[in-house]
Amino acid sequence: MKVVVFGAGYVGLVTGTVLAYVGHDVTLIDVRNEIVQAIQAGISPIYEPGLDPLVRRAVSSGHLRATTEKTVVDTAAVIYIAVGTPPRESGAPNLSSVEQVARTIGATLKSSKRPVIINKATVPIGSVYLVAGWVSEEARGRLIPGTHFAVVSNPEFLREGVAVYDSLYPDRIVVGTEDDWARERVLALYAPIVGRRFVHPPGIPKPALKDSPVPVVNVDSASSEMIKYAANAFLATKISFANEIAALCELVGADIVRVMAGVGMDSRIGGQFLQAGVGWGGSCFGKDVSALLYTGREHHYQLALLDAVHRVNEGQRLKMVQHLRNLLRPIKGRKVAIWGLAFKPQTDDVRDAPASTIIRELLKLGVQVSAYDPVALTNFRRMYPDLHIQYVTDPIAALHGADALMILTDWHQFQQMDWQHVARALNYPLLIDGRNLVDPQLARDAGFIYRGVGRGSGLMDPAFNR
Ligand SMILES: NC(=O)c1ccc[n+]([C@@H]2O[C@H](COP(=O)([O-])OP(=O)(O)OC[C@H]3O[C@@H](n4cnc5c(N)ncnc54)[C@H](O)[C@@H]3O)[C@@H](O)[C@H]2O)c1
Repeated sequence: MKVVVFGAGYVGLVTGTVLAYVGHDVTLIDVRNEIVQAIQAGISPIYEPGLDPLVRRAVSSGHLRATTEKTVVDTAAVIYIAVGTPPRESGAPNLSSVEQVARTIGATLKSSKRPVIINKATVPIGSVYLVAGWVSEEARGRLIPGTHFAVVSNPEFLREGVAVYDSLYPDRIVVGTEDDWARERVLALYAPIVGRRFVHPPGIPKPALKDSPVPVVNVDSASSEMIKYAANAFLATKISFANEIAALCELVGADIVRVMAGVGMDSRIGGQFLQAGVGWGGSCFGKDVSALLYTGREHHYQLALLDAVHRVNEGQRLKMVQHLRNLLRPIKGRKVAIWGLAFKPQTDDVRDAPASTIIRELLKLGVQVSAYDPVALTNFRRMYPDLHIQYVTDPIAALHGADALMILTDWHQFQQMDWQHVARALNYPLLIDGRNLVDPQLARDAGFIYRGVGRGSGLMDPAFNR
């Protein structure tokens, strides 16, 4: 099928590349010239494991191209809207990019064509109708929704860092529409993925035996839009829950890592997203929880649970700074090394990264910061130009003259460190482990004063703890 994708960011680029990989003819449209040029050269403009070779292959085989031109829309059977929907001050998502794209489609589409417009962006409930309205308004009566085109909700669930895997082997595909012909088109588009009819690409983890087709959730558009928000809100809830229990663990002498290992083994609960730490971040959880809270307010319904999920998370970031203040007195004039700026490992995405809040607080307290991240330094510097810190390209170099090390992203490479060497390289061997990455005993044996998250040991027999 001829596919056009508006927005070649984390979602649009991965989706488009994977659709090209399974045999579709894909054109990515983006307003940012630099990323269009990179894709045209067969290079992924974002750090996403396994994506680069797929982009190169798809571009060189002629299945994938990128442009800033909007005129190709007219030939498409499917048009994706995969632009950003960042939060406004009120918590409501900013739909101006979505509206801009919808109006572009309305202005350029001929009435003889009958494309399906897929809302891939995370958008408030009712957005399928909003988009349809913008398209037909711009077409000035030439295009009737449901007849000349249809808008379908098809939310995205990929995780940055494993986005290619998630797009090829999704847990489910959600299709929300009131138009049967449009649903059929979307199912035909995803048929190779649903039926697993493609060769597994090299460089991507192999799935555990998955012979059955990918489940398709066929629902109305409002339910589809709500599935996305509810899924993200639930994941954020799991993390905030783990962090709340972690706070109590510290007070009563329990160890959150052991507690959640035990809790997560219950098949009704599951072990994922129960890791206590600096709290959730990234471009989605905060924005989507805020959007649901906003929707609740619009309907005069108080989402008490989600409100708390949000507050626990904000407090969690500041707790890391509080630990530091308690252990380094006075804090003013100290130097702190930060390892990890990305909001999670395996990505260069720094949007709403916990590191941004924590560094801002440290700077306010008069602390000097030197920061290291394996891939996110450039993005962090670009996104937070007001944070005046020292960026270093070597983790050990960050430690020189520092009175503490804070680990804020659980990059795999940090697990391999020689901790005695790390402790010695610091001015003062204080380790604030915001990801519970290091075993507390190992850290103490290496000479650290160690502070993890929820790792109480007050009541533990040290012999048992070993
Ligand atoms: N990133 C994720 O992990 C993820 C996962 C699931 C859902 N989502 C949702 O997907 C949507 C996109 O997220 P993202 O992370 O890919 O955002 P992004 O910022 O990485 O990408 C958006 C792209 O759209 C482009 N754009 C903006 N206006 C445009 C226009 N008028 N025409 C063409 N291109 C335009 C931007 O230049 C940018 O490259 C959001 O609604 C997000 O909530 C994101």
